[in-house]
Amino acid sequence: MGTGEGVTGTFPPLAKSDYLMKTPENAIKAIKYGLMGKIKVNGVDYDNMMPNPGLGNDEIADVTNYIMNNWGNSSEKKMVTEKMVDDIKEKK
Ligand code: HEM
Repeated sequence: MGTGEGVTGTFPPLAKSDYLMKTPENAIKAIKYGLMGKIKVNGVDYDNMMPNPGLGNDEIADVTNYIMNNWGNSSEKKMVTEKMVDDIKEKK
């Protein structure tokens, strides 16, 4: 949604999201590859799918920096770089 609040139980929030802020690698992975299956965000279970938005690694870095520094989120100036996105693979 416009202010990153999501729809509880269907679309997880980006605003004040523990999943985003505690495991940014997983957030980048979701934006890079899409997402399917169970995740828990702020104590609520989500079991849905997110389509791969088809962004380039530079765009993924931009989007991640945006969502990590808006709606009450702050990554305290630690910026995600294109190289960090490049290093994240679908399967560990
Ligand atoms: C059950 C989990 C999820 C569902 C169902 C879901 C669903 C979606 C959908 C449908 C879109 C496309 C919206 C559109 O094209 O207008 C989207 C975009 C997006 N999602 Fe998710 N999502 C999920 C999890 C996540 C997570 C965990 C993150 C990161 C922490 C995330 C970050 C984003 C971002 C940044 C976009 C916008 C990409 C862009 O258009 O540039 N999503 N999501």
